Amino acid sequence: MAHDTTEQNRQMTHFDDHDALWLFGYGSLIWKADFPYLERRPARIHGWRRRFWQGSHDHRGTPEAPGRVATLVAEPGAACQGMAYRISPATLRPLDVREKNGYLRELTPLHFDDGTTATGLTYLATADNAAFLGAAPLDAIARQIAAAEGPSGPNRDYLLHLETALAELGVHETHVSDLARRVRALNPCHA
Ligand code: SIN
Repeated sequence: MAHDTTEQNRQMTHFDDHDALWLFGYGSLIWKADFPYLERRPARIHGWRRRFWQGSHDHRGTPEAPGRVATLVAEPGAACQGMAYRISPATLRPLDVREKNGYLRELTPLHFDDGTTATGLTYLATADNAAFLGAAPLDAIARQIAAAEGPSGPNRDYLLHLETALAELGVHETHVSDLARRVRALNPCHA
C-alpha cells in the first residue's frame, strides 16, 4: 500500500542552490504540466523503459482499488522519450506532493534532440516502493486501468492522454499503444 515519499524527497537538496534545473517527465508530467516552467523540450533518457507497473492509490485509483500509472524500469540499451522542463527548485515542492505515492527524485543524464545533454531529475518509482505492482499480462493491466478511477479522474484518461502526447512527440511505444487499444475495447464509449 501507499507510503508517502514527500518528506524523503525534500531531503534531496541537490539543486537547492541552482537558479533552475531540468525535470524529465515520462508519464502524466508529459501531458499535465500544471506547474510553472521556464522552458520545455523533448528529451530522452537512456537505460530505462516506460511501464505501467506503478500502483496509483491517490490519483487514478483508491487504496481499495488502485489504478496503474507509469514508472521506469531499468533495461540496458533501452531509451525512454519524454518531456524535459526547466523549472525553479521551488517548483519541486508541489511536485513532491503530486508524486508522493512511491516516486523518488532521481538524478539522470538527459539527452536533447540537438545532441546536447544535461543532468536533471526524474521521479522514479522503483520495485521496492510500497505502491509498486510490477509486471502482469497486458490484458490484466488493461482491465485494471479500464476499471480504476481516483480523485484525479479515470485511470483510462491517464493512459489515453499519454498515448496522444507520445504521438505528438512522434513516439510509438507498443506497451502504451497495445494497452490503449485494449482499454478502448473494454470502454468503447470512450474510444
Ligand atoms: C512522470 O510523469 O514523469 C512521473 C509519473 C507520473 O506522474 O505520471
